[in-house]
Amino acid sequence: MKTLLGASVILSLTLSVGAADFDRGTAPVLEAAKAGAKEGASLKGQELPAAPALWVTLGKADIPKLGALGFPLGPAILSSERAAIYRVDADKLGQLSAFMHETFGRCAGFFAHDTKAEAQADLKDPVARASVAYTLDQSAIVKPLVARVSEGKLKATLDSLAAFNNRYYSAASGVEASRWIASQWTTLSAGLPGASVKLHTHANWKQPSVILTIPGSDLADEIVVLGGHLDSINGWSGETARAPGVDDNASGIAVLTETVRLLGESGLKPRRTIQVMGYAAEEVGLRGSKDIASQYKKAGKKVVGVIQFDMTNFKGSPEEMFMLTDYTDPSLTAFLNQLVDAYVGVRRSTTKCGYACSDHASWNQQGYPAALSFESHFDTMNHNIHTDHDNLANAGGDAKHSVHFAKLGVAFAVELAKSAPSLKLGAGR
Ligand code: BES
Ligand code: ZN
Repeated sequence: MKTLLGASVILSLTLSVGAADFDRGTAPVLEAAKAGAKEGASLKGQELPAAPALWVTLGKADIPKLGALGFPLGPAILSSERAAIYRVDADKLGQLSAFMHETFGRCAGFFAHDTKAEAQADLKDPVARASVAYTLDQSAIVKPLVARVSEGKLKATLDSLAAFNNRYYSAASGVEASRWIASQWTTLSAGLPGASVKLHTHANWKQPSVILTIPGSDLADEIVVLGGHLDSINGWSGETARAPGVDDNASGIAVLTETVRLLGESGLKPRRTIQVMGYAAEEVGLRGSKDIASQYKKAGKKVVGVIQFDMTNFKGSPEEMFMLTDYTDPSLTAFLNQLVDAYVGVRRSTTKCGYACSDHASWNQQGYPAALSFESHFDTMNHNIHTDHDNLANAGGDAKHSVHFAKLGVAFAVELAKSAPSLKLGAGR
């Protein structure tokens, strides 16, 4: 977890600052937070530039513990059932992060906002409501498909993605990784009528997200999203540092790629539109998914369910799969449980991050139902992530754990999008 410390501060910051602001002048604030993080971690007593106070939202459960352990927070400015807002100097954020990290043994755990209005918006827990019934009636299609999930193909994708020096959002290799994923998905979906793959560009950084669309038939305006982040990071080290990111999150992209391969071979004609998304810039504050989810909301798009794959290959617990219970939709998560029991057949449990730890939170924030299935309990997570040691050897040495998640991906796509009845078999013909 030490390795995550620095990242979580700046990431929490960028998450709330927003893409446009980031490049227009909040950089000094970020630099100050970064220096503060370093000080909190190891450089006690270092002179720091004066930095403006920010609005920080903290989870209610953490506040009394912080007070009891002596972290000076001052009075809460506003509070809700779930969280409270405090004013914290930007250069104290590093210490806050270090303190929370040492105290609670986890990363991040708070969000920094540069306006009170943003902090207030974060206090409200958006209620994501499922707009469709989640039903299981496609076993004739799903069962033969899940039987064909290939550990070898999953491993090949892990190896290919790890071969990029890193997939950092502002590095040339990060852009090349996006293009490579796009070309894989294009090839694998070639057999599906109307399928197309687009590089979704973002205004404020160069790494594009990748979106594969398999158009639906009679329910085409209802969108089923399967996603995972395609970028990787090595602590503070930036554009040149080695960041293989095998578990975090080549493993999620491998699961999506295997899902695309099987859908492609099935020739599925879905009733709802399926979109498979590789998000850019997750590791620097969920920025790619935040961009996409807010554009979808503005355009009034009807997303009926989002599944997020972030870290699928490290078996850190006795159970194989853990459903995230925070920043997720309970009825979509219940649907995932049903899919696991019907088609994956592994032990499952629940866990939570305690903060908006991945792209599902971007969709949840916009009021769309999102769910995340994770590789282990949060407390026994893979500690090599965000370092140059996030390699296959440190995530089991094979891709067996990801097989379960690829089965879930296929089941999710087919059972939520539903298969259009074949014309040949159609009644009255
Ligand atoms: N894959 C992680 C999230 C994660 C880490 C989930 C450990 C469960 C256990 C993700 O890529 C990440 O690093 N998230 C950041 C926060 C985000 C706002 C950038 C983190 O956890 O610090
Ligand atoms: Zn990460």
